[in-house]
Amino acid sequence: VRQHNIAVIAGDGIGIEVTASTLEVLRAVQKKVGGFELKFDELDYGSARYKAKGSYTPEGWLEHLRKFDAIFFGAVGDPDVPDHISLWDLILPMRQKFQQYVNVRPSAILPGIPARITNAQVGDLDWVIVRENTEGEYAGQGGRTHVGTPWETATEVSIFTRRGVERVMRFAFEIAQKRPRKLLTVVSKSNAQRYGLVLWDEVAELVSKDFPDVKWDKMLVDAMTVRMVSKPKSLDTIVTTNLHGDILSDLAAGVSGSIGIAHSSSLDPTRESPSLFEPVHGAAFDIMGKNLANPIAAIMSAAEMLRWLGENQAAEIVENACKTSIANGQTTGDLGGKLKTSEVTQVVLELIEGK
Ligand code: IPM
Ligand code: MN
Repeated sequence: VRQHNIAVIAGDGIGIEVTASTLEVLRAVQKKVGGFELKFDELDYGSARYKAKGSYTPEGWLEHLRKFDAIFFGAVGDPDVPDHISLWDLILPMRQKFQQYVNVRPSAILPGIPARITNAQVGDLDWVIVRENTEGEYAGQGGRTHVGTPWETATEVSIFTRRGVERVMRFAFEIAQKRPRKLLTVVSKSNAQRYGLVLWDEVAELVSKDFPDVKWDKMLVDAMTVRMVSKPKSLDTIVTTNLHGDILSDLAAGVSGSIGIAHSSSLDPTRESPSLFEPVHGAAFDIMGKNLANPIAAIMSAAEMLRWLGENQAAEIVENACKTSIANGQTTGDLGGKLKTSEVTQVVLELIEGK
């Protein structure tokens, strides 16, 4: 029996609810398929811990996490804690310290999803956004001087390293090459940001030489938002910087379906450190505790985790169950359905168990 050790950080808000659904689904598919065993270690890292004990995580947490085969993450954020604290105490250090340098965020219009943009139907939108995940605008460098005075100055420094850009670019070209259309769009803002993003474009040129069969083009991020909405079919794989990827992936979720089904994988392709799988959405305090959250984004993230662990059959079963539930209209309110979180979970479980 292949054993996989999974660190589970449900975190905050609806992260806790969708993680509970996900664990049920994972247990069911493990039973159904057999041959592997998932060992879950549920960790209390999150805002409740912060409020009770003064820190999001115990000492040595990153070293503890390093021993796992993968990390499943729900969401972080709390109305009582400034976001920059909760994010920099929990999710962002994991992405950086574990050098999860690509964040893969697919989106597609699936059968059963109500139309979001007038001319796009099933098949018209099938994208993979490859977001740089460790540096750029999220480097966390900068500071504030003359605090509180009219001369106060805050700097927020983006850092782009040739190595950091090259590795994510290469990953994106590889993904594009494996997809049928072999199409890659490289997004930057190199007209205004003349150092980091000019480097970004230059590195794209260089890396492209190794992928002669991939058709690629460059887009400025502002024009890219228009193209995503008006010509979704002209895009396939997209590679972009950390902040632009953050924004474009929410846009992609909005135009393709719902943030409630947008899933993501933060990968360390070298496999030196554990990779992390999480829904794109956040803690969503406005709907927490109401059994309204769509668990599909989290469950689909877990399917990607199974694939990363080599459990392809199990991954496919989970993914198909999610897609079938959507095609059948057995969805939560964000997709126009009437079901609760627990009911969607039940539907997915029954599809997996073949009931
Ligand atoms: C995401 C989230 C995070 C990000 C936050 C929670 C730090 O919005 O995963 O897209 O900005 O990367
Ligand atoms: Mn985001």
